[in-house]
Amino acid sequence: MPENKIQKITVPLLQEKKKRGKKIVALTSYDFPVAKIVDETGIDIILVGDSLGMVVLGYENTIPVNMDDMIHHAKAVVRATKRALVIGDMPYMSFHLSTEKAILNASRFLKEAGAEAVKIEGATEKRLKIVEALREAEIPVMGHIGLTPQSIYNIGRFKVKGKETDEAKKILKDALNLEKAGVFSLILESIPMELARIVTEELNIPTIGIGAGPYCDGQILVFHDLVGFSNGYFPKYVKKYADLYEIITRAIKSYIEDVKEGNFPDDDHSYHIKENKVLEKLIKRKIK
Ligand code: KIV
Repeated sequence: MPENKIQKITVPLLQEKKKRGKKIVALTSYDFPVAKIVDETGIDIILVGDSLGMVVLGYENTIPVNMDDMIHHAKAVVRATKRALVIGDMPYMSFHLSTEKAILNASRFLKEAGAEAVKIEGATEKRLKIVEALREAEIPVMGHIGLTPQSIYNIGRFKVKGKETDEAKKILKDALNLEKAGVFSLILESIPMELARIVTEELNIPTIGIGAGPYCDGQILVFHDLVGFSNGYFPKYVKKYADLYEIITRAIKSYIEDVKEGNFPDDDHSYHIKENKVLEKLIKRKIK
């Protein structure tokens, strides 16, 4: 392949990575400038996650996010992305009412936004049927089990799942069922690393962990957590690689001080008139 030719990440390529023991690296993005940077770093997957609701739109949880929000942000991400596989996250109530509704909503990610796959949370019988129907409609689906944030009002709070035997067994069973139903990859969120290892060894499709330890086939983080773009709560599994909140705060405070002190704008950041004659007339208010 020519040196500067971009190798587009595809669903089969991700599955190939698992076979070759190569780690898959994923990150969320919700807008053009961030997606552009993320894509240019060589990340494999960009998830337009419904975490959008919390980290960008300021909601308490992901429940209020709707399809129009997701499509609006997915469009911006797709415009910026040349290499990564872009996955649209199906928000709460976009796949709960009927299989037809689920297919129509999922297809909006592909047709309107230009994403290449969708993700849905959960593994109930009904969800498995939806996965099958989406596959039938040629829409690649990523699964998501363990902690599923759209279940927040049922589980009460965000917490680790699968620490006890029964719950661990159920997670393994759910993973196997989702693979059978046709998901091309599976997010494992907030589960013990020992369980994530077993699930990863049992599945042929790649597992992508978030709070699931080092044995998954890949890893995903929320962009805003990775770069510290908030001064709120960070779960234990987050590694903050930067403190953007601090950097941005410092920059804005310097700006305020400079304006107040008359240090900005200065000559370097101002424009000049071309001819002195124009200036003279202006000064004498002779221009009509
Ligand atoms: O919405 C999201 O960002 C997610 C990831 C945490 C996997 O679902």
